[in-house]
Amino acid sequence: MIGQHVPVRLGERSYDIVVEPGLSRSLGALLKPLLDTGKVGIVTDRHVARHYLKPTIESLKQAGYEPVTIVLPPGERSKTLTTIARILDVLAKQRFERRSLLLALGGGVIGDLTGFAAAIYQRGIAYVQVPTTLVAQVDSSVGGKTGVDHRLGKNLIGAFHQPRAVFIDPFTLHTLPRREWIAGLAEVIKYGVIADEVFFSRLEASMSDLLKRNAHAVMQAVTRSCQIKAEVVAADERESDRRRILNYGHTIGHALEVLCNYRNLIHGEAVAIGMVAEADLSVHLGLCKQDVSARIRGLVQAAGLPDRMPNTSFAALWRAMQHDKKVVGGKVMGVWPIRLGEVVMRPLEAEACADWHVTLSGSNSARQKRRIRRA
Ligand SMILES: NC(=O)c1ccc[n+]([C@@H]2O[C@H](COP(=O)([O-])OP(=O)(O)OC[C@H]3O[C@@H](n4cnc5c(N)ncnc54)[C@H](O)[C@@H]3O)[C@@H](O)[C@H]2O)c1
Ligand SMILES: [Zn+2]
Repeated sequence: MIGQHVPVRLGERSYDIVVEPGLSRSLGALLKPLLDTGKVGIVTDRHVARHYLKPTIESLKQAGYEPVTIVLPPGERSKTLTTIARILDVLAKQRFERRSLLLALGGGVIGDLTGFAAAIYQRGIAYVQVPTTLVAQVDSSVGGKTGVDHRLGKNLIGAFHQPRAVFIDPFTLHTLPRREWIAGLAEVIKYGVIADEVFFSRLEASMSDLLKRNAHAVMQAVTRSCQIKAEVVAADERESDRRRILNYGHTIGHALEVLCNYRNLIHGEAVAIGMVAEADLSVHLGLCKQDVSARIRGLVQAAGLPDRMPNTSFAALWRAMQHDKKVVGGKVMGVWPIRLGEVVMRPLEAEACADWHVTLSGSNSARQKRRIRRA
């Protein structure tokens, strides 16, 4: 399969997602329509730099740019205002101008940091995303949400700032650690559930190829995921309504991340458990049939992702769910599958969630539920 262009239609902020195996070797040429000459700040982390920084610098130099590199420590712990200050220091010292460009070469952490630095340096400069993890290729590089974490909450500080382009090279996924690869598959499965039954069925058929990172299967999965994300973002850039469907699996997923202190589960794993739990809850609420939730669980298991709720008390789970940004007036706004490819958004009451939690094997649930009834 050769390259694919997926448009993100956002009026004057529109841009293209280019998905093409091997593209990372011609980034210099790809930047030409966006910036003729000048400084390009390549922001990356140490892991990614080891594999992809040298060819990126060479490609940019060949096309006549002056690359300036900023190599950060890898991982979520770098996603802070302190790192932003470090990036801004380099930009100021190197005299980056309003017309200069930043290039985010890495996973979601690098993309979120680079986008946010680009949003605030000189009140906003251009940036492009070159995502190198599956999570970043199918999710975080598209849509313009940028930002950093705060001690009191993940992604608490940020800005909407759309990239000028997203350049995806699926070949870069070959060096990704297996656990990160599988975690990214959770977000791919999510797109099938929220928007496309045919895609979901295709994933069921191709999961073993995807696990082997077969080029054709990867290309299809990444491209279709980007198309769905682009459509959802174009319909609701600032997440006032439809964009919230992307949070399927994340209400419980985020709560589990908080409960395990972001240690035992990585994001995609928590989302996988969240998708299965929320599908199960949807059955419990009478919104969808059992076979739908069974297929979602089956695909999550086939991907090698975890699907079982850890043993938490209902009170702790509900408290963690309250901290989510999706809470409206004390009620948790949930995204519920009604069939494969279609979800609805409805608030979730504590009582209904407690009722469901009792059905899990956890021993504390019944006691917790009685306590909530009394309160
Ligand atoms: N902005 C959004 O809309 C959005 C959406 C989803 C997630 N996110 C954010 O994205 C972040 C998670 O992204 P992530 O999962 O990509 O994490 P990440 O950026 O931390 O990357 C995961 C690990 O993989 C390494 N890595 C990256 N590419 C590699 C490659 N090709 N080969 C080998 N190693 C590689 C990284 O160095 C890192 O150690 C979170 O901070 C999350 O909040 C943002
Ligand atoms: Zn996610």
